[in-house]
Amino acid sequence: MEVRAGTGSIPIVSRYRVGVLASGTGSLLEAILAAADSYEVTSVVSDRPGVRALEIARDAGIPTALFRLKDFPDRDAFSLAIAREQLDHGLDLSASAGFMKVLSRPYFEAVGVPYVNSHPALLPAFPGAHAVRDALDYGVKVTGTSIILCDEGIDTGPVIAQEAVAVEPGDTEESLHERIKQAERRLFPDVIRLFAAGRVKVEGRRVHVL
Ligand code: GRF
Repeated sequence: MEVRAGTGSIPIVSRYRVGVLASGTGSLLEAILAAADSYEVTSVVSDRPGVRALEIARDAGIPTALFRLKDFPDRDAFSLAIAREQLDHGLDLSASAGFMKVLSRPYFEAVGVPYVNSHPALLPAFPGAHAVRDALDYGVKVTGTSIILCDEGIDTGPVIAQEAVAVEPGDTEESLHERIKQAERRLFPDVIRLFAAGRVKVEGRRVHVL
């Protein structure tokens, strides 16, 4: 964008603005921050007080906010409050990096931007909050990560990118999750960069990288 002022012109470089939602240790948030070249993280919202994700954001000088579902009359009010907070800080993309709450329709209507999530399994296998444990208990040899566009369902949105991770003999939920997280820390920032570059096109359930 360029704004003309007097005789000269002042170029305004607006970076792609990403709002991150996180409930946990924030290792994915850290990876997103470390890779933030073509985009910037404008806010970090959590639903859990005292989590490391909030500390990481504060240390990086990013505005943080805490919204607890129990402080709102219902999920719609909770979802709308989060949307408003993110919009207040500038939002071109919303990214769930280990955010463990489902947001309802008012969130999607209010933000009006894509909302992406990193899930620790190869969807549609093993949706839900215990994906790593469920894959291990099932006995699969390969699992992985899926970066999806969120819709109102639980892990039901269109798949943007996936990376496979082999299950090793003797894996525990923790060891397997850590290897999946290593893949997520590469893949999620890559996907955000694709959005920032305008290279993601969605046609129904098919997501094309241009
Ligand atoms: C990731 O595995 C993500 O897929 C899942 O929660 C984890 C977040 O990890 N939903 P961290 O809190 O960023 O370390």
